[in-house]
Amino acid sequence: MDINIFGLKNKKILVVGGSGLIGLELSNFLNNLGAKVFNLDIRNNKKMNNNVKFIKFDVTKKNLIKNKLDNFFKKNGIPDCYVNCSYPVAKGLNKYNFKDISLNTIQSSLDVHLKTYIWLAKTIAEKMVKSKIKGSLVQFGSHYGVIGQNSDIYSGTKMSENMVYSAIKGGIISNTRQMAAHYGKHGIRVNCISPGGIEGHVKGKKFAQPKSFLKRYSLRTPLKRLAKKHEIAPSVAFLLSDASTYITGINLIIDGGWTSS
Ligand SMILES: NC(=O)c1ccc[n+]([C@@H]2O[C@H](COP(=O)([O-])OP(=O)(O)OC[C@H]3O[C@@H](n4cnc5c(N)ncnc54)[C@H](O)[C@@H]3O)[C@@H](O)[C@H]2O)c1
Repeated sequence: MDINIFGLKNKKILVVGGSGLIGLELSNFLNNLGAKVFNLDIRNNKKMNNNVKFIKFDVTKKNLIKNKLDNFFKKNGIPDCYVNCSYPVAKGLNKYNFKDISLNTIQSSLDVHLKTYIWLAKTIAEKMVKSKIKGSLVQFGSHYGVIGQNSDIYSGTKMSENMVYSAIKGGIISNTRQMAAHYGKHGIRVNCISPGGIEGHVKGKKFAQPKSFLKRYSLRTPLKRLAKKHEIAPSVAFLLSDASTYITGINLIIDGGWTSS
């Protein structure tokens, strides 16, 4: 068998959210594999490889998305691969816990995260169909899209559960299956990656993950630690590459075994 099937040389890959914790590692990894990577994000990241092209893009600006994407397609053509690892949040992230969350916050959170993931993936897949590109799409879920958050691991810290996150990520995982079922006849594959906890920042907060959280999380996990930020990109590259041409509709959970125990 040709080992080049693992390669992504000269593949055109559009990454949404490429400036973040996972996205930066991923964009640089794909670029180092020889892919032409475009990072669509609201902010740039200085640590990005020079030849990853940054395009300022806000997934929540409904009215601008069509124009921005049309311009992108006109200039660069239709991508071979697409990844969404953005993490858009609605206002008031400190009030996402069960006690304080409002109906408005639930609605706006679904709007900016679940709905934009679905809409962008569908838009790209339709373009691939029109251009007869047998592309590969990867959406980002979470292990909390298949199980509920365990709020005990946050106790005694300033962290708390995000009441609506499981619904969003569960929706993205389900929509991945729906899209895989629909676009398979066009040779387009749609898969999902669901990480568990990753060492890094606390979303929307200015403090690092507290030691007590890291300890409780690690004890609960079969591999006894959180993921390192570079441990996600290789699996995404696999799902984008020709090494996975008969894989579609899956949710690949990368959680050190959390959901298996
Ligand atoms: N970090 C984790 O522990 C973890 C665990 C499970 C799942 N995930 C999922 O993985 C994905 C990436 O997570 P991360 O930790 O890298 O997040 P992050 O916050 O570090 O990065 C997210 C990126 O999305 C960009 N972004 C935010 N709003 C945007 C908008 N409106 N338009 C365009 N871009 C926007 C940000 O600028 C940032 O570069 C997310 O979907 C997240 O839910 C993360």
